[in-house]
Amino acid sequence: MKGIKFDFTNLFQPNVETGVTEDQINDHKDKIKSIIEEIIEEKPGFMSVPFNRKWIDNVLDIKNLVQSFESVVVLGIGGSALGNQALQTALNPLNYNSMNSCDRKTPKVFILDNVDPDFIASVLDQIDPKKTLFNVISKSGTTAEAMSNYLIARGILETYGVKPSKNLLFTTDPENGILRKIAEEENIRCLEIPPEVGGRFSVLTPVGLLSAVAGGIDIIDLFNGAKDMYDKVINTDVWENPAALNALIHYILYNDGYNISVMMSYSNRLLLLADWYRQLWAESLGKKVDLDGKEVHVGQTPVKALGATDQHSQVQLYNEGPFDKVFTFLKLERFDREITIPNIHCDIPELNYLGGKRLSNLLNTELTGTEYALVEHKRPNMKVIFPAINPYNIGQFFFAYEFQTAVMGKLLNINTYDQPGVELGKKVTYALMGRKGYENMEKEVMSKLEG
Ligand code: PA5
Repeated sequence: MKGIKFDFTNLFQPNVETGVTEDQINDHKDKIKSIIEEIIEEKPGFMSVPFNRKWIDNVLDIKNLVQSFESVVVLGIGGSALGNQALQTALNPLNYNSMNSCDRKTPKVFILDNVDPDFIASVLDQIDPKKTLFNVISKSGTTAEAMSNYLIARGILETYGVKPSKNLLFTTDPENGILRKIAEEENIRCLEIPPEVGGRFSVLTPVGLLSAVAGGIDIIDLFNGAKDMYDKVINTDVWENPAALNALIHYILYNDGYNISVMMSYSNRLLLLADWYRQLWAESLGKKVDLDGKEVHVGQTPVKALGATDQHSQVQLYNEGPFDKVFTFLKLERFDREITIPNIHCDIPELNYLGGKRLSNLLNTELTGTEYALVEHKRPNMKVIFPAINPYNIGQFFFAYEFQTAVMGKLLNINTYDQPGVELGKKVTYALMGRKGYENMEKEVMSKLEG
């Protein structure tokens, strides 16, 4: 069967109590059906993304130009960076940027999603600014991190006497915001972030697509994957709808004290999907709600882990620690590269069982070992299985999890698409960095900080 597969067998094994039962799922069947109908009816922005060919065309129109640069540097943060990172890491070799230009036919891709000077300087050291396209991504056009990195990039271009419109490309709101204004005044190329699509749901819009194309990724297949997953997730029968079923499982477990959702990838290339998921799950679902006049705080903490590495770091806790975690493994069936362990030390039993085995076999056997142990310890766990890593499967994953988050938001009775909790910190930064209009806040913060 084409595409990724959600495998819930470890959760529903007869006689093994892992925290959720088939009866519990059946009890929620009608509720899930009406939630899915509501989402289809309300059509939150992300739902129409796989059908909007415009985003693909806008990006493909400038593919040749983008690929004519030696490097493409994305300047963005949160929803304006995490999907890009997940795409590059999954769909290009892990050493993509350090490959020589005979093996790597498309530009190097860097994603600057922090304002750590050591980090920024280390990337700047690796690029020739004159041969670099800086893709500034900010829906609001106000985010301090993206804007400071924009100013740095622009400053460098100016030092080299490069016309900003030649090496800058903005991805921003079609009408509003300071980037749009600058672009219009200076004739800087722009791609649109659809206003109705929230940042963390925007990976399949020009936000994620431009750097994907820069890295030679087939964005049409990415879309096809998302589109096919759309057909699956609009099925109102929870047992036939992997995203809704997964949301419900997480919801039932959450109500039973499972406050943590661990996504553990048994593939280095898939690991940053877990980073993307962390933002989606945390920022969408971690909310304060008013329940009959009482303030209630909801949300399940997403955590990422890497197998087999974290078996030697986290798995002791997973098996014997508190019953507060639900596990999702990302399993890859076919790796692009293979290494066979050589037959050396044939007379040493501690080593000779490894000789002649493939590394992928070892890794996936370790996954089976971890699963088995978790089931034995009665820990709820399931898998998302990737037959291979390709754009189609990654597109499926993104869309499934976006829909799953929408369903979970409805189950928790919250607004999935806002993020009021991040605003205060942003404003304090503006105030303390001297942004005009925030003088009163600066005084208030300083007096509280200084006691
Ligand atoms: O999901 C979100 O809305 C946020 O994580 C934003 O993507 C993030 O804060 C960056 O915002 P902007 O694109 O406006 O710079």
